[in-house]
Order: sequence, then C-alpha cells, then structure tokens
Amino acid sequence: MRGFRFNAQILASLFLCIFFGCRARVNAPAPPAPESTLRVAAEAHRITIGTAAHSRYLREPEYEAVLASEFSQLEPENELKFAVVHPAPDRYDFSGGDVLLSFAESHDMLVRGHTLVWHRQVPQWLSSAHHTPAQLAMVLRDHIKRVMLHYAGKLYAWDVVNEAFNDDGSMRTTVWYDQPGIGYAGGGTRYVEQAFRWARASDPKAHLFYNDYDTEQINAKSDAIYAMAKDFKARGVPLDGIGFQFHLDLRFDNPNKLASTAENMRRFAALGLEINITELDVRLSDGSPASLHSQASLYHAVTKLCVAQPACKVLQAWGFTDKHSWIPGFFPNMDWGLPFDKDYKKKPAYYGMLGALQ
Ligand code: G3I
Repeated sequence: MRGFRFNAQILASLFLCIFFGCRARVNAPAPPAPESTLRVAAEAHRITIGTAAHSRYLREPEYEAVLASEFSQLEPENELKFAVVHPAPDRYDFSGGDVLLSFAESHDMLVRGHTLVWHRQVPQWLSSAHHTPAQLAMVLRDHIKRVMLHYAGKLYAWDVVNEAFNDDGSMRTTVWYDQPGIGYAGGGTRYVEQAFRWARASDPKAHLFYNDYDTEQINAKSDAIYAMAKDFKARGVPLDGIGFQFHLDLRFDNPNKLASTAENMRRFAALGLEINITELDVRLSDGSPASLHSQASLYHAVTKLCVAQPACKVLQAWGFTDKHSWIPGFFPNMDWGLPFDKDYKKKPAYYGMLGALQ
C-alpha cells in the first residue's frame, strides 16, 4: 500500500512535469514575503504603536485602512478635550470619542485618553464664568469624574494633566493653577496632585499620565517634572507614567541631539514609572528627498530609544498622514511631519520606524 502511494506520487509529478514543464516548477521564485506592518513589528517588543486620530476622517477608506492595519492604539487628537467633550455647563458630548472607541474595538486597538486638565481648548462658558477657586474645583472634579466614568474599562490610560510647566521649570499660569485656579494658586504641583487623586477615584484601573513637550532631554523642564514625579511616588500620589510628546523640528533636532534622552528616560523609569512617547512628529521646511531622509533617521532614532528602554510601552505619532496634520496650521511654511504622505504613501520616516522595530 505504502509503495503504491509513493509510485502514484512520482507518476503525478511526472505528469505535471510533462504538461507544465519541469524547470518552471522547480525554479519558480518564491512569492515575496508580505511586508510587515508597524503594529506587527512592534508586538515583538511589547510596544503599543499608536497615533492621534479624528473621527471625521474615518469617512476616508484609506484613512481607515492604514489606521487599522498599522496601529494597535489610537488617541483622540481633539475630541476628548474639555471644550469638545463638555461644550456647555450641563452638556457633555461623547459622540466623537465614542465613534473612535467603536472603531478601535472593532479593529482590536487600544484607546488612550487625552486630556483632562489643560490650559488650551477650555470652553468659553468656563473661561468667562468668574468662578471662585472652590467653584472651579467642583467643575474640574465633576468633569474628570464624568468623562472618566463614561470611558471606564474602555480607555486604559489617560493624560490627566497636560503641559503644566513652563520651559524654565516654573508652573505655568493657567485657569487651573492660578487664574483663579482650583484652590492651590502658588502651591506648585498641589493642583496637579489633586487632579491625579480625582482621576484615580474616578477610574481606579486607568493608567494615569502626566504629559508635556520639550521634555525629551535633560533640561529645566524635565528636571521639574522629575522632581514632581519623585515627590508623587514618595507620597503615594497616583501617577503611573510620563508622556514625552516628541514634537521634533529638523531645523533644531537630529539623532545626536537626543543624546541625553535615553538617560532622561532612565531616571523616570527608575522611579517605577511607565514611559510613553505620545505625540511624535518631525516637522520640515521642505519635502525634498534629503529632508525626508534626515527625518527618517530621527524617526529611526526615537523608535530605537523606545525599543531600548523596557519602561517605554507606547510609541505614538501625532497623526499618521500629512493630509491631516496640525503642523501647517500652527507653523507657517512647515509640514511633512508624519510617516505617510498626503496620498497615504509610506515615507522614508515610516521605514525608519519599521527598520528600528525589526
Ligand atoms: O473643529 C473645529 C472646527 O469646527 C472649526 O470650524 C475650526 C475653526 O478654527 O476649528 C476646529 O477646531 C480646531 C481643532 O484643532 C480641530 O481641527 C481648532 O481650531 C484648533 O485649535 C485645534 O488644534 C489642535 C491643537 O492641539 C489645539 O491646541 C490640534 O488639532 C491638535 O493637534 C493639537 O494637539 C496638541 C496636543 O493636544 C497637546 N500637545 C501639543 C499638540 C500640538 O499642538
């Protein structure tokens, strides 16, 4: 019986050879291996690969396709900010956030929340209300509670407080700190602490982050955040991680200038904090091949930093296509900051990230 099967196989091969040609069958090139994606390559390092996203762009098939295939996390770019989610004193609007959450759920993606306490995108009704600090404290406490409860168990992490420091490490003057503030004007990081305590009480399972820009290197601002983080950890204030935004500019940044970044990340990691790269982009003043190439080496270097630091769990770009980027609206004559171009084609920056992950 065994011999019969063997002979039948040989006969079948001979038959195929005669009719279709032996050489072609033996020498046909193997089909090219399918190119990996960022999310697949990042999985090997246990890194979540994210992007900021906006629900209005989900109408574009290419936007949806790239978002779902390349990223394992999204973060609403604007739709959970105070003015959008809480547009009137007694009205909350979760529509944009809910659409993004449902997209993420159907594509096996995580969602990270942004942001509960920030001095920008504060609604007019609040900035013109002339609250006392005690009244403002109740507004903020209720806001944190309502928004976090709506997403409890669905959003696994939040930027609780965003950009509370000036570049020199002093506290930024804001509606929440001292204009009029929630009761801790002049008290340094006390108001930040209060926000984290309300956040923990609202959703005990969410990972709570402090998030800021120009803090990638060791400087006055990152020193101030480090001092706050160390103090919070020592006193049991519920801070779980630090978000480093990484809005880079090719005129000022290059891989060598990230020299102190690994050391900076190390000192925060040593406090037991999770590190997230939250808003990566590299803006350019032209889209020439040379600029795109230098941009790719920065994307590569930043990705390597995250891969090399075990506490770095999230690598997230602030959007993914140059078609929908905040950069030209904020920096005249600058653009081209993201890993996909305006036609959703992969740029050298994309391959810079992918190469560092592989
Ligand atoms: O949606 C409204 C639209 O209805 C209106 O017609 C239009 C008129 O100006 O404004 C639209 O809102 C804009 C919104 O983006 C959505 O596109 C706001 O004007 C504009 O100010 C807002 O900009 C956002 C910016 O934060 C606000 O400060 C950017 O998209 C967003 O990328 C940017 O993100 C910040 C992070 O939250 C924190 N870190 C820095 C980062 C870059 O600035």
